[in-house]
Amino acid sequence: MMMDSVSRLLVVILVGVSYVVQTMALNCVYSNRRCSCDPSVTFVTCNDLDQIPPLNTGGNVTEVTSLTFQGGNITSITRSSLPLGLTQITIIGNPLTNISDDALDATAATLQYVYIEGAEFSNLPKALKKVTNLTQLSIVDTAIQDWDIATLKKLGATV
Ligand SMILES: *[C@@H]1O[C@H](CO)[C@@H](O)[C@H](O)[C@H]1NC(C)=O
Ligand SMILES: *[C@@H]1O[C@H](CO)[C@@H](O)[C@H](O)[C@H]1NC(C)=O
Ligand SMILES: *[C@@H]1O[C@H](CO)[C@@H](O)[C@H](O)[C@H]1NC(C)=O
Ligand SMILES: *[C@@H]1O[C@H](CO)[C@@H](O)[C@H](O)[C@H]1NC(C)=O
Repeated sequence: MMMDSVSRLLVVILVGVSYVVQTMALNCVYSNRRCSCDPSVTFVTCNDLDQIPPLNTGGNVTEVTSLTFQGGNITSITRSSLPLGLTQITIIGNPLTNISDDALDATAATLQYVYIEGAEFSNLPKALKKVTNLTQLSIVDTAIQDWDIATLKKLGATV
């Protein structure tokens, strides 16, 4: 009798624990084995991707502030590629050629730091014209020939 209620109590506790663990498990913004979400759920790093994976959205998705794409064959960034509210984005060693003009719209108000290294676009991306809170912009090892004046002027206000 005593044992029976103890084991019931244990079952209740175990069910409770697994419920808590399940509800705390957040989805990474990108469901791709080459992307890892930091346990603190604000940093995401993806390595060696061919393209940016579909973005997960919804209430149980991590809130990401910093995103890194390192190595790989990513060529384009579109409007629906990036999570809302990023403050930092780092893209290293991807042959980016095509950043759509609205690629940064979801992060336009929050983005503070952009680092791009080894890309293959030759125009300063016009998407940068829309960011309003940028303080650091680095474009390294990328042969830009066309520095769009309107974009530079806009950037000059905060960078
Ligand atoms: C998070 O949301 C996704 C998509 O709605 C769902 O498949 C998944 O089970 C949810 N995960 C948790 C832990 O609630
Ligand atoms: C990128 O593409 C090239 C050519 O298809 C391939 O050799 C290389 O392994 C790819 N890199 C990655 C990280 O997928
Ligand atoms: C750039 O991306 C847009 C939108 O995905 C696409 O329509 C266009 O063809 C791409 N351009 C190049 C040069 O890849
Ligand atoms: C803009 O950047 C500053 C730090 O430079 C930060 O404190 C502020 O929250 C940012 N604004 C938005 C809308 O993210």
